[in-house]
Amino acid sequence: MALHRIVHQCSELTDDTYACALFGRAAEKFRMPPQGSSPREAYEMVHDELMLDGNARMNLATFCTTWEEPEVRRLMSESISKNMIDKDEYPQTAEIEMRCVHILADLWHSPESTTTMGCSTTGSSEAAMLGGLAMKQRWKQKMKKEGKSCGRPNLITGPVQICWHKFCRYWDVELREIPFAPGRYTSSAAEVIERCDENTIGVVATLGTTFTLQYEPVKQIAAALDKLEEERGLDIPLHVDGASGGFLAPFLEPDLEWDFRIPRVRSINASGHKFGLSPLGVGWVLWRSAADLPEELIFNVNYLGGDMPTFALNFSRPAGQIIAQYYNFLRYGYEGYRKIQQSCREGARFFADRVRRTGLFEIISGGGPGNVPGVCWKLLPNVKVNFDLYDLADKLRTRGWLVPAYSLPPNCEKTVIQRILVRHGVSIELLDRLARDLEDSIKFFADHPGSRVAEGEGKAFHH
Ligand SMILES: Cc1ncc(COP(=O)(O)O)c(C=O)c1O
Repeated sequence: MALHRIVHQCSELTDDTYACALFGRAAEKFRMPPQGSSPREAYEMVHDELMLDGNARMNLATFCTTWEEPEVRRLMSESISKNMIDKDEYPQTAEIEMRCVHILADLWHSPESTTTMGCSTTGSSEAAMLGGLAMKQRWKQKMKKEGKSCGRPNLITGPVQICWHKFCRYWDVELREIPFAPGRYTSSAAEVIERCDENTIGVVATLGTTFTLQYEPVKQIAAALDKLEEERGLDIPLHVDGASGGFLAPFLEPDLEWDFRIPRVRSINASGHKFGLSPLGVGWVLWRSAADLPEELIFNVNYLGGDMPTFALNFSRPAGQIIAQYYNFLRYGYEGYRKIQQSCREGARFFADRVRRTGLFEIISGGGPGNVPGVCWKLLPNVKVNFDLYDLADKLRTRGWLVPAYSLPPNCEKTVIQRILVRHGVSIELLDRLARDLEDSIKFFADHPGSRVAEGEGKAFHH
C-alpha cells in the first residue's frame, strides 16, 4: 500500500467519529452501503438510532425481564457463540438445559420429575406450538385407531394470548375460544364442557391471562373434564399456559393445585424470560409422561455428532438464555424466587391502591392472590372526565412511561383497560414516581378542559 494511503487512513482513524464519512449523510435504508465503515462509526450510528426506542425498564407493558445481574450479562456474553442445537459439541450446555427441565418438573410436581419429557424453546409461543402439536398428534392417533376421520380438530380455550390463535391457524385446528362476558374475564368449567366433542384435541387454561392477569380455574376445569370422561367417554387432555403463572404460583400460592398434581394436566408451558427472570429468548414446555409426547414428533439427527433427539420448531438457537436460567435457579433458589415474586406482588398492591385512590378507576386486577403481579384498571362507569385511557397513556409517555391502554376482545370491545406489569426491578420508588405522574396527568386534564368529554367506559373513545 502506498505511503500516502496509509497516512490518509491514520488521519481518519484519529478523526472524531461524528466528523467521519458515515455521519456526513443519512444512513442507508434500502440497500447495503457500497463500502463499510469503522466499527466505532457503525456502532454510534446504530446506537444513536436506538435512543429513540422507549426505555425498557419503563416499559410496563411487557411481562418480560428488563433487569439482569452483571453475572447474567457475563454468562450471556461468554455463550454468545454457542448454538443450543449443537448438543454433541456443547454437552454441558445440553446437560444444563435438561437440569432446568427437571428442576421445573419438580417445581410443577411431576410424578416422574427426574425423567420428565420437556425442552427449552424461544419463549411461550414456541412452547405453545409444541404443546398444541403434541395434543393434535395424540388425538389423531386415537381417531385413527377408532377408524374415525381426523378432518376437524378443535381446541378449547379461554381468552388466550395470540400464540394460540397462531397455533390454530398454522396447524389447521378450529379455535373454540370462550368469549368474555361483561365483568367476567376468564373461562369457567361449564363453558369449557359445553364446547367439547370427540374432535377436541385439548383444552388450554391460562395461569395469568394476558388481558387481565387473572388465573383461570385449572382445578375446576380438570374436574369437569374428568366428569365428562366418566359420563361420555371423552378423554380430553388439559394444557396449562403458565407463561407467567408457571413461575409465580409455585412460590406465591404453593398450595394452589394447577400443575401435574392434577392428573388431567398433561403439559405445561412457561416463559423463562418473564417471571422466570432470564433474559429474552427462553421458554419451557414439559409433558406429564412420555405417552403425552408422541414419538413421531421427535426427530433424531446424527449430523451434529452423536444421535440427538430434537423437538423444536427452530434448529439453531442461542444457548445463553438457557444457561442464564440455570444461573438464576442456583443464584436465587426457591426462597430467592419467592422473595422476588412477593416483592413484585407488594409493588402491584401499592400501585393498585394509588390508582384506586384517584376515585376514577375500578381495579380489575391488583396484585391479589390468583393474579400476576401487575395492575389492570378501567374508568369507573358514569365517572365524568375529559380524557380516556388512551389520552392517559399518551400523557404518561411524555414522561417516558409505557403504559398501554387497549380494548378487550369480542363481547367486551367497548371496555378499555390500562395495565402495568410489576416485574423484578420495578421498585416501589419507581411505582411511586409513576403514581405521581398519573395523578399529575389527571390534574393536567382537569386544568385544561378540552371540548371532548368521555363518560365512563361506555363512552370512552379511541383515537
Ligand atoms: C398467557 C401467555 N401465553 C403466551 C404468551 C407468549 O409468550 P412469549 O412472549 O414468551 O412467546 C404470553 C405473552 O405475554 C402470555 O401472556
